[in-house]
Amino acid sequence: MKGLRGKCFIVTGAASGIGWACAERLIEEGGRVLGADIVEPPGSPSAGSGDPASDESWAFRLTDVTDEASVVELVAAAAGFGGRIDGVVHSAGVASGGPVHTLPTEEWDRVLRVNLTGTYLVAKHVIEAMLEQPLLGGSRGAVVTIASIEGLEGTAGGSVYSASKGGVVLLTKSMAIDYAGRGIRVNAVCPGFIDTPMTQSVFDWPGLEESKANAVAEHKLRRFGRPEEIGAAAAFLLSDDSSFITGHALPVDGGYTAGRDHGVTAKLGLSGPEL
Ligand code: NAI
Repeated sequence: MKGLRGKCFIVTGAASGIGWACAERLIEEGGRVLGADIVEPPGSPSAGSGDPASDESWAFRLTDVTDEASVVELVAAAAGFGGRIDGVVHSAGVASGGPVHTLPTEEWDRVLRVNLTGTYLVAKHVIEAMLEQPLLGGSRGAVVTIASIEGLEGTAGGSVYSASKGGVVLLTKSMAIDYAGRGIRVNAVCPGFIDTPMTQSVFDWPGLEESKANAVAEHKLRRFGRPEEIGAAAAFLLSDDSSFITGHALPVDGGYTAGRDHGVTAKLGLSGPEL
C-alpha cells in the first residue's frame, strides 16, 4: 500500500485481536507503530517475515483510553517516537450488552466510557497534535476508528454495545467533516464477527453453539472474519491509496450487512452450506 513506509502510527487495543493485527500489518508495510493497551501485549508483533518487529518499528505504552491524562501521555510519547503522528487506529474496546431491563446502569456507563468516550479522547488528542503538524503530501494524518456492524444495525441484546458503536460511527463522520479542510481524513471500520478473544468470550460458552452457528450464517461468506482482514482495511484507510475517502463507515463483514438471505437462491444452487 502507498504511503505507509516510514510513517508513525498509534494503535490502541494493540495487545490483542484486531489491534494486534493492525499493528502487524502496519509494520509489515514499513510503518512504525506505538501500540497502546491497558494490558501488556504477548510480545512483539511480527514484521511479516516471521521475525519480530524491531525496536525501530515497534514500541508499546500502557494506556487507559478512558483516562484523559493517560491518552495525553500516549500522544506525547508518539510524537517522541516518530517525530510526527501520521495516523491512528483506535481499536480498544469492550463487549457487553443485554436487554436494557437487565442491564445495570454501571455497566451502561462502563461500556460507553471505554467504547465511545475512549474514541473521543483518543481522537481529540491525536487530532490536536496532527493540527500542529505541517502538511506532508497534502495530508496532516488519518484517523481510523473501529466501530462495528452493530453500530450500523440493531442486534438482539445489543443495547449499550450498539449504542456505543452507533455513536462511534456518527462521531467519525462528524470529525471527517470538521477536519477535512485541514488535511485530516477520518474513517471507521465496521467489522462483522471476527475471531478474537472478544468474540470467543461471547460465544465460547456451553449452550451457545446454536447461537454461534446462527451468527456465522448471517455472514454471507459463511464464516467469522480474521483479525488480519480488519488490519488490511485499517491499513488501507491510513494509506495514500484511500486519499479520497473520508467520513466513510466501511463494513468488513463478509456480507453481514448486505441484506437478508431467505434461502430462495440456495434452491438454485447459488448459495448453501458447502461454503
Ligand atoms: P479484544 O478483546 O481481543 O481486544 C480489545 C483490546 O482493547 C484488549 O487488548 C483490551 O485490553 C483493550 N482495552 C480494553 N479497554 C481498554 C482501555 N480502557 N484502554 C486501553 N485498552 C483497552 O477485542 P477485539 O475483537 O480485538 O476488538 C477490538 C475492537 O473491535 C473493539 O472496539 C471491538 O468492539 C471491535 N469489534 C470487534 C468485533 C469482533 O467480532 N471481535 C466486531 C466488531 C467490532
